[in-house]
Amino acid sequence: MSWGAISRMGYVALHSTDPAQAVDHAQRILGLTETGRSGNAVFLSSAARLHHELVYLDAPKNAVGHFGLVASGLAGLDSVRRRVREAGLRIVAESPLLPGVADGFSFEGPEGFVYEIYVDMQTASYVPAPHRPERYGHINLHPQDATAYKDFLVDILDFKLCDVIGDGFGYFLRCNTEHHGIALISGRGWMHHHAWQVQSLVQLGELGDRLWESGSRLLMGPVRHGESGRNIAAYYVEPTGAVVELYADMRHIYDDDAPVNHMSTDSIDWATQWAKYDASEFRSHGIFPASETIASR
Ligand SMILES: [Fe+2]
Repeated sequence: MSWGAISRMGYVALHSTDPAQAVDHAQRILGLTETGRSGNAVFLSSAARLHHELVYLDAPKNAVGHFGLVASGLAGLDSVRRRVREAGLRIVAESPLLPGVADGFSFEGPEGFVYEIYVDMQTASYVPAPHRPERYGHINLHPQDATAYKDFLVDILDFKLCDVIGDGFGYFLRCNTEHHGIALISGRGWMHHHAWQVQSLVQLGELGDRLWESGSRLLMGPVRHGESGRNIAAYYVEPTGAVVELYADMRHIYDDDAPVNHMSTDSIDWATQWAKYDASEFRSHGIFPASETIASR
């Protein structure tokens, strides 16, 4: 259930200097399935079996290409188009950047991150994968001005605010019942992580085993997040330099008018209720938005 112009999170498109390595890693470690290729782009999906939920575009620099958000039908798409024009934001493309969707457009939001708003993505044929996640869930951005970024998500894209951390330090926002689709933590102006839902905590342990067996390790977790979602999560770093989260047990909010939850930065309980964690190392990974948007050739 959603209330506004955006019904759910759609996909993440990343620029990669070595797409073959990135795709191999996403298949072996994250458990996604390649659903197709189109020139400079490789498309992957989870058990959701969509045309794409993660895309790697061949590029000279590792970076965030753009984020896809699913509009609430053509009315939602038109609504966002109108607001983007009225706000004077730069239109990147009037038609979809990638194949597999019926209609859409893209624009540049705050701090250089590009969003494609679209409707009607094709489904992919079923290909079994041994440890696939259920679906793409959320992104965590570290904007330089988190408060301005929060205002953009609320005013242009109809996101609702769930949590506020400190005085403008962090915001968690949702576009449907899931506690957060986009999280904002003040930082360097990059994307920290993209996140994928799994069915069971066992899969978080199996992720740790796959990383260990491939000569790597988890970056953090498994942890129980506090009020900021209450999900149990584990994190690692993918070849582009972006962090990836697998999570289960995210809180859902069924009251559209639920009050905003305020948390203090004096405690890290909102971030983890179990082990301590080294925020400086955790926050040292991420990738910046690309200077140019690449469409699929
Ligand atoms: Fe997250």
